[in-house]
Amino acid sequence: MTTPTTPHNDEWWRSAVIYQVYPRSFGDANGDGIGDLPGITARMEQIARLGVDAVWLSPFYKSSHKDGGYDVSDFCDVDPIHGTLADFDALAAEVKRVGLKLIVDIVPNHSSTEHVWFQEALAAGPGSAERARYIFRDGKGDNGELPPNNWLSVFGGPAWTRVIGPDGAPEQWYMNIFDSSQPDFDWTNEWVQEQFDDILRFWLDRGVDGFRVDVAAGLAKKAGLPDWTDGVDDPADHPFFGDPGSHEYWRRWRAITDSYPGERILCAEAGVDPLSKLALWVRPDEMHQAFNFPYAGVKWDPKGIRAIIDESLEAFGSVGAPSTWVQSNHDQVRHTTRLAMNDDETRTGDLSGLGPRSTNVPDLALSIRRGRASTALMLGLPGSAYLYQGEELGLPEVHEIPDSFRQDPTFFRTAGERYGRDGCRVPIPWKADAPAYGFNTTGESWLPQPSVFRELAYDQQDGVSGSTLEMYRAALRLRHEHNLGHGSLTWIDGLPDHIVGYENNGVRSYTNYGTEPFEIPAGRVILDSGYGIHATAADSHDSAEYGDGILLPDETVWVV
Ligand code: NOJ
Ligand code: CA
Repeated sequence: MTTPTTPHNDEWWRSAVIYQVYPRSFGDANGDGIGDLPGITARMEQIARLGVDAVWLSPFYKSSHKDGGYDVSDFCDVDPIHGTLADFDALAAEVKRVGLKLIVDIVPNHSSTEHVWFQEALAAGPGSAERARYIFRDGKGDNGELPPNNWLSVFGGPAWTRVIGPDGAPEQWYMNIFDSSQPDFDWTNEWVQEQFDDILRFWLDRGVDGFRVDVAAGLAKKAGLPDWTDGVDDPADHPFFGDPGSHEYWRRWRAITDSYPGERILCAEAGVDPLSKLALWVRPDEMHQAFNFPYAGVKWDPKGIRAIIDESLEAFGSVGAPSTWVQSNHDQVRHTTRLAMNDDETRTGDLSGLGPRSTNVPDLALSIRRGRASTALMLGLPGSAYLYQGEELGLPEVHEIPDSFRQDPTFFRTAGERYGRDGCRVPIPWKADAPAYGFNTTGESWLPQPSVFRELAYDQQDGVSGSTLEMYRAALRLRHEHNLGHGSLTWIDGLPDHIVGYENNGVRSYTNYGTEPFEIPAGRVILDSGYGIHATAADSHDSAEYGDGILLPDETVWVV
């Protein structure tokens, strides 16, 4: 019997498990088919019952809704689609009441073109102080008809859009490394920095415990905005992701969060490779956490997972930061589906997604087995972790969404060549036999839900022993009891290559990446990711019991 060590209450973020809510798709209180803040508040107790420590809300700010709310037109107000500031305050109060912490998104790289700052910049014209808030440049070519450089938008197409003046004449260009509705700020401008100081304070004063910082690797652009060609130029020299110029902005933000009582945190959404470079974002005077996206990018591969864990612990450990594990979010093919595909088509980051024409959609049963096994492996690791709404139900990526419903700008900017991210954003099924599976009471849903959501609905899993939901709850409870977030990892030697085994605070975790059953070394099984997943015809083994001593392929157990 392991004696649980006392959980650390200080620096809660070092070990916290944080649950991501995507407001459009969590709960819809007024029945218009789009999720809202009251719909989240009403379900906060369910989040708390999962056993997580905090909630992160993706943007709910005033928006032009071209990029799922990441095109913000007022950083200090709630979009009417999602509710009001009073609804936000009610949500924050409910988060506290149920004993969680609250993280909100902040989007400092760009605003919406509808933001008054951008509208003023357009009106003020070239050379004005207003234009200096953003990155306006004259075009190249005889008449400025060519973009100022060759950079490409993450969503496809050029990273520049030409302004058409009120008289219909084309004039300067502005930079948009995402959609043309998302002009990039010029962060070398002190005015911009001051506005964001105020935005941070606005939400800190309202009681938030921290921020997930959007595009944290992109604020500083390479001086002189030189041309750059992916696949030709050195990736380490990327002109708008990972430029070291951003570090001074994080030090400035850290001074602000540190000036508030409690541990208010900053979490970097930074696409920076390798991990040794990403770790620079979480040095002691910068951010607290940075999503470990290279971890999320690993295939179902025992060598790959061991290597990335070692690299992560080394890189983040070298700056005294925890690794922040993550497998799924609103930008990636859900990890259930991704790990069962195990190919290169759904690698994190390229936003290809899946759709009706995809030929590589994997089997649901295998997806769920691997998704569960890989979550159990992750939740046994020391450090912090993020979960994405719906993964606790085993939801797969939805590939059936017809083109006419697609909303991701990637889909439009690549003329449908890349499906984009809608498939991981489909509204959550709460009740099998309710309209829109309980997302609301009217049956409206901004993205259509597939029929498989019926059997995966929350009410089909709540209290059902062996369900994916109960496995997540058990893993989170055990993680707390054994203080795994604050532990340290030792690899278990002498195992076959296809078994990944490690020990953390007296708990041994084994995952079977092979095709043969594995006899679990002596001990008491306290978590079994395969428990309750009924044997398929191909499996002669019945995995409906804990502690039968056998670890099947695509399963994880924890043993003490
Ligand atoms: C990262 C966000 O997670 C994604 O959803 C968004 O499209 C881009 N940043 C641009 O804000
Ligand atoms: Ca609504």
